Amino acid sequence: MNAVIELLNSHRSIRKFTDQPIPQDTLNTLIQAGQAAATSSFIQACTVIQVNDQDKRNQLVECSGGQAYISQAPVFLVFCADMQRLKLACDMNDADINSGFTEQFITATVDVGLFAQNVTVAAESLGLGICYIGGIRNQIARVSELLDLPELVYPVFGLCLGHPDQNPEVKPRLPVDVVLKQDSYNDNGNQETIADYDKSVREYYQTRTGGNKEMTWSEQMSGMLVKEARPHMLAFLKEKGFLLK
Ligand SMILES: Cc1cc2nc3c(=O)[nH]c(=O)nc-3n(C[C@H](O)[C@H](O)[C@H](O)COP(=O)(O)O)c2cc1C
Repeated sequence: MNAVIELLNSHRSIRKFTDQPIPQDTLNTLIQAGQAAATSSFIQACTVIQVNDQDKRNQLVECSGGQAYISQAPVFLVFCADMQRLKLACDMNDADINSGFTEQFITATVDVGLFAQNVTVAAESLGLGICYIGGIRNQIARVSELLDLPELVYPVFGLCLGHPDQNPEVKPRLPVDVVLKQDSYNDNGNQETIADYDKSVREYYQTRTGGNKEMTWSEQMSGMLVKEARPHMLAFLKEKGFLLK
């Protein structure tokens, strides 16, 4: 192991922050680290909105089902997949963008994930804490309006950022042999391994919540995956010019 791998393995989401502000220079450095991530065909399709306005923050809390840390964190960022800037690049060359392809949706969304994770790792290397907020997609149209997002731009997730005011345990992940397969996909042995993993997740929740939460990973997943998953998303994305072909 080295210091980078140790840092990666010590990640845990932070949902309570001190009031200590993050200097804009530091934030700019984190964003530059995000920009340094690999980007599909050099498209650089990520735009970040730093939300400073407290009223907008409060509205984002509402949009995300009441996640108060969105308004409390010293910094809140919204990561957007942005094909609008690529339309501009085409316009600058008198070319008509051929947009709406699912492939472009995938590449832009992957770009956002890689960018944001670089920001996260850079932030954690400075002792800061983060929490991704997919909850903003609960009311994605309202979020989009609030931030004046044009066609060909959509908000993928938010990110709370600040100095941690809590020190939660690292959450155990699935064993490597469940997620790393040799030469072809197979799920041999997965069920037994996941049953063992379930026990460690139950213990993790018991310790973290002082016995208030007793849930295994597979219980948590099955509870979630029998429900609909933000069914408004496809219509919204189509309206924004994504996923048309
Ligand atoms: C794209 C994305 C969206 C997430 N959205 C939320 C969210 O809306 N609220 C929240 O409290 N945590 C959110 N999380 C954090 C996950 O719940 C967390 O990463 C996961 O449970 C693993 O815990 P850990 O980050 O502490 O290791 C999100 C994580 C990701 C990657």
